[in-house]
Amino acid sequence: MRSLRLAVLISGRGSNLQALIDACAKPDFPAQIVAVIANKPDAGGLARAADAGIPAMIVDSSFFKGDKAGFERALGDTIAQFDVDLICLAGFMRILSADFLNRFKDKVINIHPSLLPKHKGLDTHARAIEAGDKVAGCSVHIVTPEMDEGDIILQKTVPVLAGDTPQSLAERVLEQEHAAYPEAVLQIATNHVILRDARVIIANSKEDPMSQHPTPNTPHHDHEAVGHANNMWNTFVKISTYAGGATILVLVLLALFVA
Ligand code: GRF
Repeated sequence: MRSLRLAVLISGRGSNLQALIDACAKPDFPAQIVAVIANKPDAGGLARAADAGIPAMIVDSSFFKGDKAGFERALGDTIAQFDVDLICLAGFMRILSADFLNRFKDKVINIHPSLLPKHKGLDTHARAIEAGDKVAGCSVHIVTPEMDEGDIILQKTVPVLAGDTPQSLAERVLEQEHAAYPEAVLQIATNHVILRDARVIIANSKEDPMSQHPTPNTPHHDHEAVGHANNMWNTFVKISTYAGGATILVLVLLALFVA
């Protein structure tokens, strides 16, 4: 099986990057990290990439000041050198524009520390506790220009315990993040999950139960492809029927002619 080529984009400590590095180090894991790019020179994850022998680069967003398009062009050009199949945002603290996402269409995913669509944005754990949520968790989702809005690929949950602080809840969720991100990459690498036109498609519903997926932003089974196959079959049946009818007509005419 082909090994999926990943670029991982980070802004900070890079513990999710580490989870992906560890998963990719397993002999059967069908993905490899070909580049790590940070938008901050002091991102701790850069050292993790270097330790793993992965090319690590900085495209410093502060250098571009307000020039978002310029930053994204530089970031995109850097990624483009590595012929990547998938771009994993892992604590990457920038919102990417439609232009950037169109350049890497259906290739950008993110991990977010809440059960989306609940608690988009920052301070998710404090907000989960304040809201009295009994369950918290993380979501791996497609990146769209609207923050934390894209279709969900996979979620993992943890209980919110009495006496939880944002910190204690964050630690429990982070453990699940470290399992969720490699699992999502595996699903994509094995084509159990397909990203198409900014939607998540579950390619094989028998092996990949919908129960993993929440109701909002749910993935879509490939009804379009099924419909297309049905149309082709109906056309084939019609053509065969007409062809059969025409053949019989010709034979009858020939028989009459000969008689
Ligand atoms: C994680 O909680 C991730 O869900 C969020 O930012 C944090 C990054 O942590 N988007 P790390 O840099 O991967 O340790």
